[in-house]
Amino acid sequence: MNNLKNSFYITTPIYYINADPHIGHSYTTIAADVLARYHRLLGRKVFFLTGTDEHGQKIEEAAKANGKSPKDFADEIVEKYKKLWLELDISYDKFIRTTDEKHKKTVQKIIEILFEKGDIYKGKYEGLYCIPCETYFLETELLDRNQKICPDCGRELSIVSEDSYFFKLSKYQDVLLKYFDEHKDFLAPHFRAKEMINIIKSGLKDLSITRNSVSWGIKNPLDEKETIYVWFDALVNYISAIDFLDFVEDKKNIFIEIWPADIHLVGKEIYKFHTLIWPAILFGLGIDLPKKVFGHGWWTFEGEKMSKSKGNAIDPYKIINIFGKDVLRYFLLREVPFGVDGDFSMASLIDKYNGELANEIGNLFSRTLNMIEKYCNKIVPDITLENNILFEKANEVIKEYSYSMEQIDIMKALIKTLELVKMSNKYIEDEAPWKLVKVESIENKLKLEKVLFNCLATMRVIAILLNPFMPTSTEKMLKQLGISELNFNENLVRWEDMPKNYRIGEIDIIFPRYENI
Ligand code: MSP
Repeated sequence: MNNLKNSFYITTPIYYINADPHIGHSYTTIAADVLARYHRLLGRKVFFLTGTDEHGQKIEEAAKANGKSPKDFADEIVEKYKKLWLELDISYDKFIRTTDEKHKKTVQKIIEILFEKGDIYKGKYEGLYCIPCETYFLETELLDRNQKICPDCGRELSIVSEDSYFFKLSKYQDVLLKYFDEHKDFLAPHFRAKEMINIIKSGLKDLSITRNSVSWGIKNPLDEKETIYVWFDALVNYISAIDFLDFVEDKKNIFIEIWPADIHLVGKEIYKFHTLIWPAILFGLGIDLPKKVFGHGWWTFEGEKMSKSKGNAIDPYKIINIFGKDVLRYFLLREVPFGVDGDFSMASLIDKYNGELANEIGNLFSRTLNMIEKYCNKIVPDITLENNILFEKANEVIKEYSYSMEQIDIMKALIKTLELVKMSNKYIEDEAPWKLVKVESIENKLKLEKVLFNCLATMRVIAILLNPFMPTSTEKMLKQLGISELNFNENLVRWEDMPKNYRIGEIDIIFPRYENI
């Protein structure tokens, strides 16, 4: 397979459509978007996939409760996802739905391939089943393993036995362990590896992948009375979206250029599906594994899990309407290191907004640009470049920013950029251009121009580094700097490429303090 591919393929989970999107779904999607935009800035060919997971019993029930057919219900929620992604500037290249015909055909084809290979076989599924809830439960899902009581409705569970097809997950136990050992970057962040390895070591059971009792699903090509288990269906999206079916059928396809994915970004609760079942399916198909599966942490609200039933799930529009989309994007990635859990608090959001965006970044832009207007007639000075502390700091920050982004240490990249902002503000204080204009001399004029140019060149670097995080605000920043286009190149950005001797744009406040919004 094509391991030297020049493209960068990143995915989010495909979201269930039984409820409206909330801040948790936005989090993964924003993070993926930031990484996609960063790689695009480097001139890489990016393919960014997101979408919706539309089959299964839960969705069928949610649709019923709303008096709709599952497909009509799905269509409505899908629009809400798409609208939110548009609102949040999510630059996805493809939105896959598991109800897409091509996806369904791909899932069926994969079942056939794995059946022919002997990795799927017919057996009997025995398990605990709640008839009123129409749901299967694992022993581990019970509140008390000694009592066969439904954890949802509290009624007695039945032991059912039905024909089912199984995927030979157990066959790949040692293959997986060996793979993890030889590919240390596959399981990310590293601290998630241990749990997965322990799960495998305690023994993987073959997986029942068809259901008799669920009607809203992809038909099992081996037995039309059955539907495919929703997780098997869902995982396949990562390759069905990029023409795996055409690849199998030797037709024109993009699979060959794009696969393997560089990163599957997922929440920690679905990490094992992506690091155990999905790789085993790919081994079965004989195709490469994604390069990395990154499991990020969970957001709670005031210490509690966010959920529809508790009514405490944060509506992204609430933040967007007050602060704007970029502030939500910034805050979610700035507040906690990417990978660990975080607790959402409005007080902290206001604090970060006023402290970092308004006081530091906003202030740097407004004071410098106003001085360029006042002292230089809005013309960027034409100076001879000399070494200076901002140039040095910018070089250090660009390097560390890039390293952090490659490591998916997203918060660190932001913190580094903020260091550069703070240093620029301090530089202005120390150099005090307003004092230089008080005594007229050629020396003072040259010094003033140098100081202001150094600030402008650094602001350009800052705007570009922040661009993946805040595309709209940084576009405004660059416009005010008089720079109309972002350059896409493998150096990301070079301080010394700041243009000279041209007119800056219209000056405007970028992040007004919160009390002024
Ligand atoms: N449909 C499955 C995924 C299939 S992928 C092949 C699913 N969908 S979901 O709608 O429940 O979305 C789960 C994902 O949403 C999590 O993995 C995470 O990416 C994101 N989040 C949902 N709530 C979240 C938080 N409270 N905090 C952080 N992210 C969370 O599971």
